[in-house]
Amino acid sequence: MPQYDTTGAPRDGAWAQVSAAAATGTGTYPKRVKVVEVGPRDGLQNEKNVVPTPVKISLINMLSETGLQVIEATSFVSPKWVPQMADHTEVMQGINKVPGISYPVLTPNLKGFQAAVAAGAKEVSIFGAASELFTKKNINCSIEESLERFSEVMAAARAASIPVRGYVSCVLGCPYEGKISAAKVAEVSKKMYSMGCYEISLGDTIGVGTPGSMKEMLTMVMKEVPVGALAVHCHDTYGQALANILVALQMGVSVVDASVAGLGGCPYAQGASGNVATEDLVYMLNGLGIHTGVDLQKLMDTGTFICNALNRRTNSKVSQASCRL
Ligand code: HMG
Ligand code: MG
Repeated sequence: MPQYDTTGAPRDGAWAQVSAAAATGTGTYPKRVKVVEVGPRDGLQNEKNVVPTPVKISLINMLSETGLQVIEATSFVSPKWVPQMADHTEVMQGINKVPGISYPVLTPNLKGFQAAVAAGAKEVSIFGAASELFTKKNINCSIEESLERFSEVMAAARAASIPVRGYVSCVLGCPYEGKISAAKVAEVSKKMYSMGCYEISLGDTIGVGTPGSMKEMLTMVMKEVPVGALAVHCHDTYGQALANILVALQMGVSVVDASVAGLGGCPYAQGASGNVATEDLVYMLNGLGIHTGVDLQKLMDTGTFICNALNRRTNSKVSQASCRL
């Protein structure tokens, strides 16, 4: 058993095992990771200038060529709240829906669900939070009320055989309440999982988490929701996203959300930067020998496309480095 005395790193068996696994590339890590691309939704929703619909459609069509299995396309929220997503129907109807790829959309309530289905959505996501104040700012209700609205969506989705993913935001901190207890995250996650969400995506909305807080939170949540039904959604505001994801992988999570070129943020979490860049995630997973099915070069080309369209520099470190080669 390797010892870590000289480095000061933890000595417990779990870490030693992980270290051995890291050396071989597999072992305690999952063999495959499903990457959920959220760039067209989470990435673009925070853009101040309205992104032309054809650009959104081209972005999704290019992402569909990269090998990604899941591409979150848009959200059926109020255009008064998030004007950038007002063209949801045109986007859903304009994209090439490649067989085998899922194009989920956000639906906060029954009205959004019905509009999404009418536009051709075959999968939806409901989005709650472990923070009362964030829930109020984001979807204008309490956690309890949000769960009531979600159960209406769940009933309609069940009747239409539409799978529903559930987001829990603010799992490692809230822009309005600060620290959020892991017990609260576990409680909300359990409620959304018990409602019938097939997967719960745990959102570090403002990217304040560290590997330590991620481990503590996941330990609590995994008591209530099977790890096979968990995903992590890490914004990279404090530069901790990849480290946090690595911890989640070591704990058995095998679904990770990411945003091409690291675009994004939440309009109701000021200052939060984008998700971990999909390019950087795939680069790390490739290095660990974990299969994603995603072509990194095509992903980087897609990142270049959207950054040119938005006239901005990529947030992907991998793309920045490759540009210099
Ligand atoms: P509200 O104002 O409380 O809604 O908004 P209401 O039920 O009182 O209705 C008011 C008006 O909105 C009515 O229209 C409704 O018809 C309309 P009016 O009579 O005034 O003309 N309305 C809608 N219109 C379109 N689509 C709908 C819809 N529902 C009602 N679905 C509401 C409540 C939830 C709609 C609003 O707060 C909202 O749209 N919020 C969206 C916020 C959002 O999109 N946030 C970003 C996504 S979450 C996120 O980024 C976090 C995540 O990435 C994970 C992480 O990082 O942690 C997922
Ligand atoms: Mg997000």
